[in-house]
Amino acid sequence: MKKLLLFPLICFFGLNSFGQNISTPEYKADSVIRIMTLDEKIGQLNQYTSDWEATGKITPDGAKATQIREGRVGSMLNVTGVDKTRELQEIALQSRLKIPLIFGQDVIHGFRTTFPIPLAETASWDLSLMERSARIAATEAAAYGIHWTFAPMVDISRDPRWGRVMEGAGEDTYLGSLVAKARVRGFQGNGLGNVDAVMACAKHFAAYGAAVGGRDYNSVDMSLRQLNETYLPPFKAAVEANVATLMNSFNDINGIPATGNKYILRTILKNQWNFQGFVVSDWGSIGEMITHGYAKNSYDAAMKAIIAGSDMDMESRCYRDNLKQLVLDGKVDISIINEAVKRILVKKFELGLFDDPFRFCNSEREKEQTNNLENRKFAREIGAKSIVLLKNETQSNGKTLLPLSKQTRKIALIGPLFKTTISNHGFWSISFPDDSTRIISQYQGIKNQVNKNTTIVYSKGCNINDSDTTGFADAVNAAKSADVVIASLGEAPTMSGEAKSRSNLQLPGVQEELLKEIYKTGKPIILLINSGRPLIFNWAADNIPSILYTWWLGTEAGNSIADVIFGNYNPAGKLPISFPRSEGQIPIYYNHYSTGRPAKDENDKNYVSAYIDLQNSPRYPFGYGLSYTNFTISNLSLSSHELSIKGGELSATVEVQNTGNYDGEEVVQLYIHDLFGCVVRPVKELKGFQKIFLKKGEKKTVRFKINPENLKFYNDQNQFINETGDYEIFIGDSSNTDLKSNFELTL
Ligand code: NOJ
Repeated sequence: MKKLLLFPLICFFGLNSFGQNISTPEYKADSVIRIMTLDEKIGQLNQYTSDWEATGKITPDGAKATQIREGRVGSMLNVTGVDKTRELQEIALQSRLKIPLIFGQDVIHGFRTTFPIPLAETASWDLSLMERSARIAATEAAAYGIHWTFAPMVDISRDPRWGRVMEGAGEDTYLGSLVAKARVRGFQGNGLGNVDAVMACAKHFAAYGAAVGGRDYNSVDMSLRQLNETYLPPFKAAVEANVATLMNSFNDINGIPATGNKYILRTILKNQWNFQGFVVSDWGSIGEMITHGYAKNSYDAAMKAIIAGSDMDMESRCYRDNLKQLVLDGKVDISIINEAVKRILVKKFELGLFDDPFRFCNSEREKEQTNNLENRKFAREIGAKSIVLLKNETQSNGKTLLPLSKQTRKIALIGPLFKTTISNHGFWSISFPDDSTRIISQYQGIKNQVNKNTTIVYSKGCNINDSDTTGFADAVNAAKSADVVIASLGEAPTMSGEAKSRSNLQLPGVQEELLKEIYKTGKPIILLINSGRPLIFNWAADNIPSILYTWWLGTEAGNSIADVIFGNYNPAGKLPISFPRSEGQIPIYYNHYSTGRPAKDENDKNYVSAYIDLQNSPRYPFGYGLSYTNFTISNLSLSSHELSIKGGELSATVEVQNTGNYDGEEVVQLYIHDLFGCVVRPVKELKGFQKIFLKKGEKKTVRFKINPENLKFYNDQNQFINETGDYEIFIGDSSNTDLKSNFELTL
């Protein structure tokens, strides 16, 4: 169907007699609003899911089609595919004003082609790769009729107990902000209006990742300074990248649920940041303000949410059931409703849905994107680049186990994650009926790459999360018969994700016991750890010579993992989140504030800020990751030891040399420490990084620019300021670097 003339009396071209440009989406939206009834306006603010239960209870009220036909629904989520979206869009076009629906879906780490979970992709520290992964996800989703993804999730989190760490970019605000921008650019491509671009949605606004105790949906109580400094910048970055929408978070912030929080939604987002898109609630979060004890009933909840600035109601029905009465009662001014409707209609115009509501319903495109080989190729590449090599100890023969020779005579593959396909998908993947046949298992990936004379033996050993040890004997026999063991252990994809908080972060079930039994055979072991979060595996970290953190890598997981094991790709991933030694250290993050009693070293327990029974340091620090080669970073030099606050710039250089035996990539990281301030400052903050490739033996100079803008922070009045004084600068291969110099920020 082409060019539906929805409003024959309104001509949307050129200037009108008042000189206004009538071809802008804003003008067009206003023209539509003028002829809408109040019921029709409220309809635009109402979003329903399709008929399956995704992440919350569906309010059973059937008859959605009738409501769509009456113009009482603005958007649907979880409707996938050209046929299904077309069917509902056709119903929407039977409504009086024929306003098309927007179809939204959680396209978080790929669509038909699944990519590594976002936390894993962030470990690549490769912004262009992350942008491309979002670009492909958008192209595939758009070809299936989807206009809007509920991604990227840009919540900073310093708590691996929180299951949703898998969905974000980890603990760091600077890195998280750059990733937020890259992903928004990727999803929105060359701009809304292109048929391969979907609206992005920065979520969850705000501070959702700081839930007390890492328990999902829990409260957040923090200073405004901390909110501004740590949790809001990735959202601001997304707004700067022109993100079309934001989603509320479920938590309260300092006592006010985010969904009804006028300060963050109106004062900060819509006024200070001048955000022009719209805000959707999270699933039922408007109604949940009643359970929070912040709204008396659904009438009160609707009033608080719309006044605060939440524009669309996902699945709570509070707007549908109460907004009209609220306007009639004079509790909500019609201008507030009009504003919310306008924000949504503008996006519908920008998407081109008024011109052709079916422009995303193209079966040819859907077919093209169903099993796109180029996309799979890319998934394989980004999968390998997301893997982090945690350990690769030299053996008694002077060699490391990794990379493993493809000629190895006999390899035992042991563990519950080898033969499964779906487990590689990760929590936020969209299920398709053919998933089990198109995802490359780790077993398959490895088998595909070994020499034809290599024998592969397989033993599952145990399940992911129960106490059954009956498979141990078989696993031990398999290990004994082989030259080398590769063990694949970790979480099931249902163990990290929404509502998947864990208090115990050890390898689940009897997997560590299995590993210990295999270890007793004396066979060399390479360990793969699959997970959506940092797990705690101290025994393995102490005893197993080679460990790869493989997260959940998606459709091509088996091939990506095999590429790294056999050295087709030399791993270069770096942790985007600190790995604790024990749950008792959580929250643990590298950029903590300076205390008045810092410990001198790990053994210092003398009335200093330390645990008497544990080190302060994490098991693996933020920014850490090894390579099959070695790099040295040296000769840190500054162009000057003074920088003028009035807009000067200094450059810091280091020499990086590949001193090992393989070509490889290194992520060179720059951290800054403000030594003295009007408020206490973090011990170190990431302010730059560069991923470089060096051939074996090659040396390069890496240069970073530092200007006053990089040094700004929030003072106790919440002003973003520069302050003169002394700074330390660190450059290295992780947050745990000692190579430093210093400079002064002067007037
Ligand atoms: C709840 C989740 O918190 C949110 O991230 C997601 O987009 C919605 N459900 C829709 O599935």
